[in-house]
Amino acid sequence: MKPASLVIRAVKITGPGLALDLGAGSLRNVKFLLEQGFEVTAVDKDPVISECAAEVNNDKLHTEVTNFEDFDYGERKYDLIVSINSLPFLPKDALLRLLPKIKNALTDEGVLCITLFGERDGWSNKKDVSFFSRSEVEGLFSDMHTIMFVEEDLEGDTIQGDPKYWHVFKLIAKRAE
Ligand SMILES: C[S@@+](CC[C@H](N)C(=O)[O-])C[C@H]1O[C@@H](n2cnc3c(N)ncnc32)[C@H](O)[C@@H]1O
Repeated sequence: MKPASLVIRAVKITGPGLALDLGAGSLRNVKFLLEQGFEVTAVDKDPVISECAAEVNNDKLHTEVTNFEDFDYGERKYDLIVSINSLPFLPKDALLRLLPKIKNALTDEGVLCITLFGERDGWSNKKDVSFFSRSEVEGLFSDMHTIMFVEEDLEGDTIQGDPKYWHVFKLIAKRAE
């Protein structure tokens, strides 16, 4: 499976270093980051990441099967933090509590590459998933240096090939201090 285009963009901004993939899933983005020379920690609550990691068999890949909220993010540790279509699967209050920890886990020049769901998204009736307005997303990252901010509002497919309306904010931002 191809890596997310946002992740391909992000590695053009930051050179190889330590990367964290939050909600790594099938490891499609992790595999790409390893190929680009990153050492990667993949976090997901689904134990299937361990099986996928065994197939990858790369000593620069570390996996943690845990909830986003229980992971130890550390401080100024990661050159790149990637989270593609995964953090919105937290209730909004939990996501908002977590965001400062994620930002704080970036190195001084660290890059955050994240997607969040918008209010018109096809899953917006789901419980315990977070949806944001554009101004909310702008506010959430106003303390960072934004490199790319795209709002997509279109018919598309899920990763499984099912039709879905996507309202998604795609953001690449650098730590501002
Ligand atoms: C839609 S998939 C995206 C996978 C991957 N980022 C990609 O782009 O292919 C969302 C992933 O987030 C993980 N996830 C959802 N909520 C989580 C949580 N609270 N803690 C850890 N992982 C979570 C799921 O297990 C799933 O693998």
